[in-house]
Amino acid sequence: MLKPLLARRTEISGQPDRRSLLAAGVPSPKEQQETGPVRAMHASIEMKEEMTMATKKSSQGSSKGLEDLFYDGLKDIYYAERKILTALRKMAKGAESEELKAAFEKHRDETEGQIERLQQVFDAFGKRAQGKTCPAIDGIIEEGQEILEEFEEAPALDAGLVAAAQSVEHYEIARYGTLVTWAGLLGLKDAVPLLEQTLKEEKATDEALTRLGETGVNERAMQQAA
Ligand SMILES: [Fe+2]
Repeated sequence: MLKPLLARRTEISGQPDRRSLLAAGVPSPKEQQETGPVRAMHASIEMKEEMTMATKKSSQGSSKGLEDLFYDGLKDIYYAERKILTALRKMAKGAESEELKAAFEKHRDETEGQIERLQQVFDAFGKRAQGKTCPAIDGIIEEGQEILEEFEEAPALDAGLVAAAQSVEHYEIARYGTLVTWAGLLGLKDAVPLLEQTLKEEKATDEALTRLGETGVNERAMQQAA
């Protein structure tokens, strides 16, 4: 048969800990010194404070809607695109094969256009263009940087870079897909085609990278490693 919590905890330590005492409703030494009415008053103040905090929290949360989500998403991808631009420059420099270098350079130029397009989306939304730190893209780019450093001059370098770049594209595809939908729901008619155009470019880049992987890069990594 299960023993009560207080009894079990007491057996282990020899002395009941404070958590067990609290669970059993035993007052602390300070609380024991307080008389009944004083203790009741303190409990009531604590309860009121907790309720005020909970009300504040829920009212802050309830005032946020799809517009706030959309604005947050825009700031996130604006930050991401600018980080990606720098990363693509490094990846184009680091890639071994000419085809992969060319693919990274092409997408670097597209990314410059995508950043400008995002500024137009901010305009259409009536907000100032600004970025918000995105730990997800920071992590994905950091992994690409690790490939550049750890596989420098290695046969598998390009295969690793294709994989790293595809992780970036998949992140962007997810983000832009969501933003297109939300822009439509918010009636931002000017923003939808701008976001759709970028989404199309990201998908095309992803497909181009898949082709590069399938038509040489991965195979080269295997042959050279053998
Ligand atoms: Fe992009």
